[in-house]
Amino acid sequence: MLMSIENLYAPLRLGSLQLPHRIVMAPLTRMRSAAGGVPTGLSAEYYAQRASAALIITEATGVSVQGMGYPNMPGLYSAEQVAGWYAVTKAVHAQGGRIIAQIVHGGRTSHSSYSPEGALPVAPSALAPVDGQAFTPEFSLVPFEIPRALDIDELPGIVNDFRQSAENAMAAGFDGVEIHSANGYLLDQFLQDNSNLREDAYGGSIAGRARLLLNVVDAIAHTIGADKVGVRLSPSGNFNDMKESNPTDLFSYVIQALSERGIAYLHLIEPRASSVGLGDDLSFDVANNARLFRRLFKGPVISAGGYTAQSGSEAIAAGDADAIAYGRMFIANPDLAARFKSGAELNAYDRNTFYGGAELGYTDYPTLASA
Ligand SMILES: Cc1cc2nc3c(=O)[nH]c(=O)nc-3n(C[C@H](O)[C@H](O)[C@H](O)COP(=O)(O)O)c2cc1C
Repeated sequence: MLMSIENLYAPLRLGSLQLPHRIVMAPLTRMRSAAGGVPTGLSAEYYAQRASAALIITEATGVSVQGMGYPNMPGLYSAEQVAGWYAVTKAVHAQGGRIIAQIVHGGRTSHSSYSPEGALPVAPSALAPVDGQAFTPEFSLVPFEIPRALDIDELPGIVNDFRQSAENAMAAGFDGVEIHSANGYLLDQFLQDNSNLREDAYGGSIAGRARLLLNVVDAIAHTIGADKVGVRLSPSGNFNDMKESNPTDLFSYVIQALSERGIAYLHLIEPRASSVGLGDDLSFDVANNARLFRRLFKGPVISAGGYTAQSGSEAIAAGDADAIAYGRMFIANPDLAARFKSGAELNAYDRNTFYGGAELGYTDYPTLASA
């Protein structure tokens, strides 16, 4: 092994899980579930192929019909979805892997075409993202709609949808859940002050805007145990038109509150990866989130965004992160951990097959052994 990447190969305790190394598969939406948001046997094969990751974090999975916002995205709120996921977790565990479900509510990034009644998407405030487009169930890109502001009486229901889907995740054989509070989806919309203009207890001050996320964390920790809960945040990410006026204070508050709760891990996305990895250009002239926030969280930190084997190992050596999540490289390299270790060439990813479709660009990337 190249000496310079050895930090990636030390074992790591992550809440209730013991990881054999530190190369994590980042959550990756692939839009290949069957009708009703049910993962298929092909998804079981895709995830099982990647079971040598230290940990697999699944694609964002909806907590309710209202929270669905991408075509063929999976959910965790129906018996059929739980059964579909059960086959996935079983396949990953059979290969010796570990797998956590990322759970999400899309909020204002959703579209009325996902609602059987044609209801508008919901959000903290009636503000549509200025940039970007919604993706309909038929894979068309359309303008974002102006969402309906959630009534305060509806928020316990949202918390319960997250809690129930975490309980469903455990029934489906997952090793835990990651609460998606990044990239401009509902929980992030509540956090940041350009999308949350509420004047009630869930808006205004930093504590008010963080309340919904912390309610969700507490409800899930109470149900499945804090040692099975991770949270993903994207301080200074601008995907889905997010723009907090004071990210350092907001995210310092949130991260300290999460630290006090003793959750299994914190997952931070570096802003240098443009939006969600849709561009190839990386700019390094922005704050290093892992470095900025690491000291505020007492548990393990996973860092994601534009890492190579070398820079990931360096981030661990510098104490900025404990594990590194790789996104696009894991799409194209099912055996990424072995490839890094051997210094073998990496398969290039094909952006055209990221979203939707079947085997092509999903289960057909070769491993070193099969090539
Ligand atoms: C095709 C694709 C789908 C993604 N889906 C998700 C997702 O479902 N949830 C999430 O939190 N991040 C998602 N991301 C962001 C990745 O998890 C990761 O943070 C990003 O790709 C940067 O890491 P990389 O440079 O190693 O690819 C996605 C990125 C890509 C490229």
